[in-house]
Amino acid sequence: MLAELSPALIAEVQRAAKILADKKCICILTGAGVSAESGIPTFRDKQTGLWENYAAEDLATPDAFARDPKLVWSWYQWRRQLVADKTPNPAHTTLAQWQQHAANNHQQLTLITQNVDDLHEQAGSTVTHLHGNLWQNRCSQCDTTYENHSNRLANSKNDMVFDEDLITCQHCGGYIRPDIVWFGEALPVQAWQTAEEAAANCEVFISIGTSSLVYPAAGLAQLAKKNGAIIIEINPNPTPNTIVDITLAEKAGIIMSLLMQKITALSSIQPLL
Ligand code: APR
Repeated sequence: MLAELSPALIAEVQRAAKILADKKCICILTGAGVSAESGIPTFRDKQTGLWENYAAEDLATPDAFARDPKLVWSWYQWRRQLVADKTPNPAHTTLAQWQQHAANNHQQLTLITQNVDDLHEQAGSTVTHLHGNLWQNRCSQCDTTYENHSNRLANSKNDMVFDEDLITCQHCGGYIRPDIVWFGEALPVQAWQTAEEAAANCEVFISIGTSSLVYPAAGLAQLAKKNGAIIIEINPNPTPNTIVDITLAEKAGIIMSLLMQKITALSSIQPLL
């Protein structure tokens, strides 16, 4: 696989590794592209099967749920089915190893994700979720976390029943919805604070597999840049973002593996992997 990379790209990975090798404070933001090699379609991929005539942007909204809760709930049950058997790819595992190494060497490597899957956790990372968790539910009216009293739906994917029937809250009768941040909704306060602090204080900000279209997450790179960070982007289809200092235009799994090899080779402290 590495043999297929152009010498120019390999040189850019080497340049990124040199910058990263001695840094103490790194912030990484991931998006749907980091899970693409695990077989999870990105948001802006065209949907397939029953859902090919719907755009994610039209379903993941509070208005869509208010208008047609059954449609939105069914879509999420379908997405849960799609994600349930997926496992981490080399991008997730390399990030987890890097984070572990950083913790052992008094470095700060903060991992922030826009993804609602749990592949970073499965790989062993500590991660801050900006957009919620695909495997959790709450009431659309009173916000109470949905507990699996009825056995019709579990909050753990291991015993999840992908039933498309709507469920109602036992406290107020409102419909149960996925605990996900939809378009137009506010981000979780604590998660956003963690992300802002990490972006504002980092020396290098790495954006992996995101189209950088959805704010406020897309503004984190700008915040980092304003505070003097170097910005690295890993994406086979680079964004037209002018603040990026180094663009690594390849799949995240390929780049992360190579980047780690190069950082390990440069590292003056204990081996990375
Ligand atoms: N490696 C790295 N990047 C990849 C890969 C890969 N193997 N495959 C695709 N990509 C890139 C695409 O080129 C694209 O730029 O991943 C990006 C995915 O973009 P989106 O689908 O827009 O996903 P994301 O940026 O995470 O979306 C942000 O929008 O729909 C909302 O809340 C939802 O969290 C989501 C947010």
